[in-house]
Amino acid sequence: MVYEPPSIYGIIGNPLTHSLSPLMHNAAFKALDVNAVYKLFPLEDAEELKLFMEDLKEENNPIFGLNVTVPYKEAVMPYVDTVDPFAKLVGAVNTLAITNERKIIGLNTDGPGFLSHLQELKFDPEGKRIAILGAGGTTRAILTVLCMIHPRPESIKIFNRTPDKAVRLVEELGTRMDASLIEVVGNTEDLNIEIADLLINTTSVGLKGETSLLIDPQSIHPDMLVYDVIYNPAQTSLLKAAKAQGATAANGLGMLYYQGVLAFTHWAGMDIDPKYKKIMRRALEEGLDKQLHG
Ligand code: ATR
Repeated sequence: MVYEPPSIYGIIGNPLTHSLSPLMHNAAFKALDVNAVYKLFPLEDAEELKLFMEDLKEENNPIFGLNVTVPYKEAVMPYVDTVDPFAKLVGAVNTLAITNERKIIGLNTDGPGFLSHLQELKFDPEGKRIAILGAGGTTRAILTVLCMIHPRPESIKIFNRTPDKAVRLVEELGTRMDASLIEVVGNTEDLNIEIADLLINTTSVGLKGETSLLIDPQSIHPDMLVYDVIYNPAQTSLLKAAKAQGATAANGLGMLYYQGVLAFTHWAGMDIDPKYKKIMRRALEEGLDKQLHG
């Protein structure tokens, strides 16, 4: 038998030490018996990104698909040959598919991944009041899909530590879509969490096990979903507070899973059987469990 080198897939970002993506994608490659391997490509800075992206265009480069994570989701866009219209709306790319002709296609699966997880949680955003903490890249992807879905949520209120950043983000989105349902608020009381249906945390507060909260936990009520995009720790102080108040609590592992499945689907050029998706999810959950409990 002639040895065929595997096709390469992977993730670019910095840092990547705790990434669970290799576990998820390699589990799928193995189960599907695809001759491919998913690797980590930590890139130090913009210069390394430039060299890596230029190299990607070379005829013999074996890389056919990449995920893109912090801090390169926007920085990668100038190197992409075709940015998919949805990723253009978001203004960021988290998935690259590379054709046999070495053309680079940029996609965004973060927003749809978030919506798929909401669907799994049986939360329909139609007519709902939504409060968001944070105005970074994740909020950008989430806001884009929440403004695109039809019928729309009733309202979206955003609080960010740096208010100007939230204002700029909403203004920028407004140049591409109807963002009139979004309001930037100057303090967390004005998020009106006590009457919200969904609270989303996209800030990094909680990532290091912080016990202080950005909001008053008493404002959380039983008829709401509290969604923290952080999944390590699996239960941030915000999610603990949500449970204590009787609310439904969810972490972002489902979003990571769904964005990964969608990226895989783009690379495969087709949907994959649910049994392979289950294998991907189990690999993610087991990987996280190992990180959490050693
Ligand atoms: P991501 O791509 O995951 O959204 P990001 O773009 O770096 O990451 O955004 C991080 C978010 O966490 C920002 O909204 C940031 O607020 P600033 O815009 O004011 O920087 C928020 N954040 C980080 N540390 C925070 C803290 N200690 N308190 C409040 N917000 C914080």
